[in-house]
Amino acid sequence: MTSESISKTLRSNILGRPVELLENTDSTNAQLKIKAENHTASQGFCLIAQQQNEGKGTDGNSWASAKGNIYASILFAYDDKVNTLFPLYPAVALCRVLRKYHIEAHVKWPNDVLIGKRKIAGILCEGASGKYMIMGIGINVNQETFAGELSNIATSLMIETGNEFALEEILANFLEEYEKLYYGHYDILKEWLKLTEMIGKTIATFQEGKEKKVKVMGLSPEGFLLVESEGKTETLMARRGLDISVDY
Ligand code: BTN
Repeated sequence: MTSESISKTLRSNILGRPVELLENTDSTNAQLKIKAENHTASQGFCLIAQQQNEGKGTDGNSWASAKGNIYASILFAYDDKVNTLFPLYPAVALCRVLRKYHIEAHVKWPNDVLIGKRKIAGILCEGASGKYMIMGIGINVNQETFAGELSNIATSLMIETGNEFALEEILANFLEEYEKLYYGHYDILKEWLKLTEMIGKTIATFQEGKEKKVKVMGLSPEGFLLVESEGKTETLMARRGLDISVDY
């Protein structure tokens, strides 16, 4: 993947305009944050890296970032209205793209994209209230193996299909679909619900060391997870320390 090959392949009008490719960086989210604070990037700016040394995951975890995959961060203007729905858009966009490739991906609340029980992508949304929002996504594309514990929880397009994919193609398709969803008149809750296997299932949630089994009923208008526990409806908000098992 080169800057030229990305420019040639890109079909979106806002997202990825412009796009900057780094060979190596600590974290594209961290670097884009600096640009946003310095006002040297605006809405749609996309920062991509071939690899990251300090890729950030949710919950303070790290995101293993070897060469061969996509590590991208996109800058958005802050929008109060879509704030809590914001993380759903990229997950839905990627899932739709993968299904166009006949890969049976599905979304796990709030914004994981899974194939079977393994993660094909991770999304980390960060921002400064009232100022900007950053969507960072790591898509496992051409990675052939994952070491240790990761081999049970992560997968890649290469592992799933046996084929190598052009990173710029996946990126261009993702940005096109994401842009269509985000700026178009879509009901993102409805679109998300079409792509999940969670509804009606009993899931195990883990919070502060406690396991609780609840039944998934749907999404609230804010994009929170509505669950039923002992006959009562509860609302789960995505927050630090909340884990949901992939076994459902
Ligand atoms: C997760 O833990 O599921 C979220 C992982 C998010 C990883 C991406 S890779 C590009 C961007 N830059 C980062 O440092 N993290 C995100």
